[in-house]
Amino acid sequence: MNINAGAPARGENFYFRKNIISKAWDLIESGNHILIAAPRRVGKTSVMYYLKDNPKNNFDFLFLDTESINNENEFFRRVVNKVLKADAIKSSKKISAFIQKHMPSITKIGKDGVEFGVKDDLNYFEMLSNILKSIEPGQGKLIIMLDEFPQTLENIIVDEGEQAGRHFMHSNRELRQDDEVSQHVQFIYTGSIGLENIVGKMNAPKTINDLSRLVIPPLKPIEAKDLVKRFLKNVPFDLSDPLIDYILKKIEWLIPFYIQLSIEGLKDLHRDENLKSIAIADIDQVFKNMLGQRNHFEHWHSRLRTTMKGDDYNFSKQILNIVSENETIGSAEIHNIAVKYKVEDTFKDLVGALVYDGYINNSDDKKMYRFNSPILRMWWRQNVAS
Ligand SMILES: Nc1ncnc2c1ncn2[C@@H]1O[C@H](COP(=O)(O)OP(=O)(O)OP(=O)(O)O)[C@@H](O)[C@H]1O
Ligand SMILES: [Mg+2]
Repeated sequence: MNINAGAPARGENFYFRKNIISKAWDLIESGNHILIAAPRRVGKTSVMYYLKDNPKNNFDFLFLDTESINNENEFFRRVVNKVLKADAIKSSKKISAFIQKHMPSITKIGKDGVEFGVKDDLNYFEMLSNILKSIEPGQGKLIIMLDEFPQTLENIIVDEGEQAGRHFMHSNRELRQDDEVSQHVQFIYTGSIGLENIVGKMNAPKTINDLSRLVIPPLKPIEAKDLVKRFLKNVPFDLSDPLIDYILKKIEWLIPFYIQLSIEGLKDLHRDENLKSIAIADIDQVFKNMLGQRNHFEHWHSRLRTTMKGDDYNFSKQILNIVSENETIGSAEIHNIAVKYKVEDTFKDLVGALVYDGYINNSDDKKMYRFNSPILRMWWRQNVAS
């Protein structure tokens, strides 16, 4: 297994996560539309790629990254163009006839099929709905996977206002709720920012209450150890079990990404320092080096900065600063800080958003919050709190 910290893991490099994939198939095969809910870097896109690369019979997966889209009609144009490339659609005479009738300027008709250009001023929501309804029976199910969907919603809200955002969410829901459409199509949404937080802030939770959640938890210790051992097959050094346990204890929040970063760091150190073997001090050094890689962590801060305004931001930052210094923060102290920043009415939602987005948790003790990841905690303490 190759180490590739950063890009989604694919093919041989995807560590198979049986429970998640089997839960995903249960949801898909029972006809659900899905929201993959997990904090940043946990492995959402990798799971989507796995499903797409290993489909069961009668399922055709389409993957679209919608991060740059900032307008509803543009969103549906891009989905239409993606859908037109699906086998069930390409082979349908009914749909071909429909497209010929409706399309003023076909931009491409080649091996890859037909595409609508940016200048085609059509109602793509209607068009998508009509195309999806026209899929012939017996063609199997189309699964449309939309990555970075919450970013699209956020872009629309920023550029066109909350009303447009609400409209966008209603349109998506309408499509999912259409009996004819859902006979042929299911949607899977995910993204690196929490859809539930944005929709909650817009006061429109109903627009996603039909989505089934697929949660991606961190690895179990036994899986994490197995993953380390697979990586070790491709590096010129070995690690004893106690050293592996030492690394995993330091990572604590066992997401594949941090395991990749640790082994990659050790590989670099081993090469740069011409090490004969790895010792505890080398592992400590790697974790220290890791904190210097701003690009891996900066988004945790910038994200807070862009989504929260004024005292909401000040309150949340203060909470995280304290947890990064003291390791934990209790409910009473959180309440005092809420009073200080005059956010008594909303502070529970703000703390909820920090939990949902993967900064902190209170899983061990309801009244006590701590960082999920000691690595992020240390990064925060060094770079934001001090
Ligand atoms: N199953 C896996 N096997 C091996 N590596 C993985 C796995 N899942 C995730 N990773 C590693 O973790 C990193 C993040 O994975 P991925 O991009 O899938 O996460 P994400 O949740 O989509 O992240 P983001 O929220 O930033 O979009 C990648 O570098 C990837 O290599
Ligand atoms: Mg992703």
